[in-house]
Amino acid sequence: MLTIGLIILTLASAVLVSLPWWLPARVVALRVRVFNRVSGDESIPVPGDLVDIDRFKEVYSHPAANGRSKGAALSDLFWYWLAPGPEMHQEHLEAGERYDAVAGATRGLLAVPRTEAEELTRRCAARTLAGAGGLVRLRDLTMPLWAEFSYELVFAEPCPREARDLIVGNANDVVTSLKCTGLRHMERRHRLTRYLLGRLSRVRIPLPGGLTPREQAFYLQGAFFNTAVVQMSEAMAHLLMVLAQHPGVQERARTADDRYLDHVISETLRLYPLFGIAHRITTGEIPLGEGAAIPAGSVLCFNYPEFHRAGFEEPGHFDPGRFERPAKDLNHIPFGVAANRPCPAWRLAPIAMRVAAREILHRYALHSSAAHTRSLPNRGPCLLTPPHESPPRAALVLMRVRDRWEDVWRSLVQLVLGTYMVWDARRQRLCERHFDHPAENRT
Ligand code: HEM
Repeated sequence: MLTIGLIILTLASAVLVSLPWWLPARVVALRVRVFNRVSGDESIPVPGDLVDIDRFKEVYSHPAANGRSKGAALSDLFWYWLAPGPEMHQEHLEAGERYDAVAGATRGLLAVPRTEAEELTRRCAARTLAGAGGLVRLRDLTMPLWAEFSYELVFAEPCPREARDLIVGNANDVVTSLKCTGLRHMERRHRLTRYLLGRLSRVRIPLPGGLTPREQAFYLQGAFFNTAVVQMSEAMAHLLMVLAQHPGVQERARTADDRYLDHVISETLRLYPLFGIAHRITTGEIPLGEGAAIPAGSVLCFNYPEFHRAGFEEPGHFDPGRFERPAKDLNHIPFGVAANRPCPAWRLAPIAMRVAAREILHRYALHSSAAHTRSLPNRGPCLLTPPHESPPRAALVLMRVRDRWEDVWRSLVQLVLGTYMVWDARRQRLCERHFDHPAENRT
């Protein structure tokens, strides 16, 4: 009897202790299954059975692959995560006059000469990094920097502390819900909308005249105080994680020229593209040859990580040297495809990232033993020490163990909250309702 009890106790302890090694991966797989079930199986994966990897760019660039929101159940989910005002988010506007006006304003706000962009990044880094050190989460460390950066791009004046807190509160809430590690807090987001409404007259270029003040505020919030801040913080967290986990690359990046740092950024965004999937709804037929075609109204899901792995030797291996040959020959589209609404910050973002990385490397040595995955739900745990100083070994062992255990809890939270949000988004049908009743939706 005692022996059976002992065996059960030993087995239970073994299962418990081994949880971090198998549970998170299983929960992630389950979450993906739940998402696919709830979102329906309307989509065509690219690459997939219909479109192979060689035609990935051709189909993505096709003029008929240009629908952004209307007609995809997936859009209800994105609109839910990006609310308020997802109908004014540049990424989700359908082609037409409104889109052209908004895209023109974004181009105007992002058109900053290189030296000015570099100087702006340096100023924001100096203000926001002061006093940082010890154990940090890299996404949280850099988000205030990008909040200030975006604020100055839009208003051409230094970002007051109140505005920085509102922007970080908004961006953090969006990215946390997108990763299903927390629910949405709409009041946090509405506070920023109210602040922006009071500042519209101070924007440094004229905003599109055909929009109501609320629509103008939603546009700014979506592009500059949500997408810009979230994407830059995520990209920067990936870059700094890579440097923290490749001491040789970190050492060389500290003194190397811009070219080397650019290759490190390119390789980071190849291995950890910020978009897992970008979707498009076809507005016409896309012929594939030999009688095959993608019909109008299809939802195409372009898989960035798969594209970025194809055609590379040892694709999972981090190697900035790959970018010594021209990137245009490579399967590398971190900012989307030029012919189909690429990222308007494709030129500015790497410039600012490079300067921010230099500012950080100048102040600290980076060390991390935490997991580095594309979705980075752990926000990049990292130990900052004075430059060239090695961290205590025990601190890195502790970080690894803690990260693994946090992963168990986090993956369960993501499963539960993710399932709830998918259900809630389907219930609210923000996108579908918008297109069903366009007249009611002017804000
Ligand atoms: C390293 C940082 C960034 C990366 C890797 C990135 C990546 C991307 C990608 C891949 C797309 C295209 C997605 C698609 O095809 O559906 C996109 C679109 C977009 N990005 Fe970025 N982005 C970054 C930073 C920014 C910043 C700083 C802004 C500032 C405003 C921005 C604003 C936008 C907008 C407005 C769109 C939609 C473009 C349109 O549909 O016209 N992004 N981004």
